[in-house]
Amino acid sequence: MKKILIVGAGAVGTSFAYSLIHKGLVEEIVLYDIDEKKAKGEALDLAHGIYFTKPVEVRAGGLEEAKDSDIVVITAGAKQRPGETRLQLLDRNISIYKDLVPEIVKNGFKGIFLIVTNPVDVLTYFAYTFSGFPRNRVIGSGTVLDSSRFAYLLSKHCDVDPRSVNAYVIGEHGDTAVLAWSLTHIGGISISEFCPVCGRRCFDEDVKKAIIKEVRDSAYKIIEYKGATYYAIGLALVNIVEAIVRDENRILPVSTVHPQIFEFKDVPLSLPSIVGRNGVKKVLRVKLTEEEEKELYNSAKFIKEAIDSFSS
Ligand code: 2OP
Repeated sequence: MKKILIVGAGAVGTSFAYSLIHKGLVEEIVLYDIDEKKAKGEALDLAHGIYFTKPVEVRAGGLEEAKDSDIVVITAGAKQRPGETRLQLLDRNISIYKDLVPEIVKNGFKGIFLIVTNPVDVLTYFAYTFSGFPRNRVIGSGTVLDSSRFAYLLSKHCDVDPRSVNAYVIGEHGDTAVLAWSLTHIGGISISEFCPVCGRRCFDEDVKKAIIKEVRDSAYKIIEYKGATYYAIGLALVNIVEAIVRDENRILPVSTVHPQIFEFKDVPLSLPSIVGRNGVKKVLRVKLTEEEEKELYNSAKFIKEAIDSFSS
């Protein structure tokens, strides 16, 4: 794995590129943007920093660069305005995907699509149908970022390092995201048994509600404060790319199109998945509580209805 093409040189694409150049994971990073000058400027600015990072070639290029790219990361599209939901972007972003994805495939791309544009689950579905690629090679960044937000808040609450927290948000990357408390562990101790160890305020219903709200509303808050979110998603993308490039079989809650979940066919959503060189190797259908299962059902239904309303 040597080459990554980033489609969209906006704040998300360039934050990702900036994080990636520190890693020494790939040999080439190509930035594409419909605004050629913007891609050129960003690529040059990044390239001048390589002296201080790891050897990598960063440059601007066209979509024909997809041909020998190992991963194409699509961040292009309209972003949320304050108060706007991710789903409200669908009309605008699907028309971009309708042109972009077939063009990338036509250029001979044989690698893995990593979809980032919102609404990420629905667009993962459309990238899958527009590309004709197998399910394992069309991955949405999904709830990797929501999970890191969840782990961060738990780590603050319990005063431990976030990396010692194992936490998953599953379902939609959006308003119906499911915080899977029953899968959460801190230092190997299930969250429900952690309170006596922690010695701080327990996870009573109020604390839980506040954390759920905070995770679901994080993006709204940041967009309200500064117009967009990009650093954390950039780092989350590096994490996913690292799992692919190094064939790590890392378990990440990425979004893929599931052949069947509940009674719904072809629904894109996040579940903990084993990620390696060929994309998603296996999806783990985790055991949830009845309540969480109900929430996951609602999330799947919500996404399915969004796809159906658009397709009909
Ligand atoms: C985020 O959650 C907006 O989806 C983006 O930060």
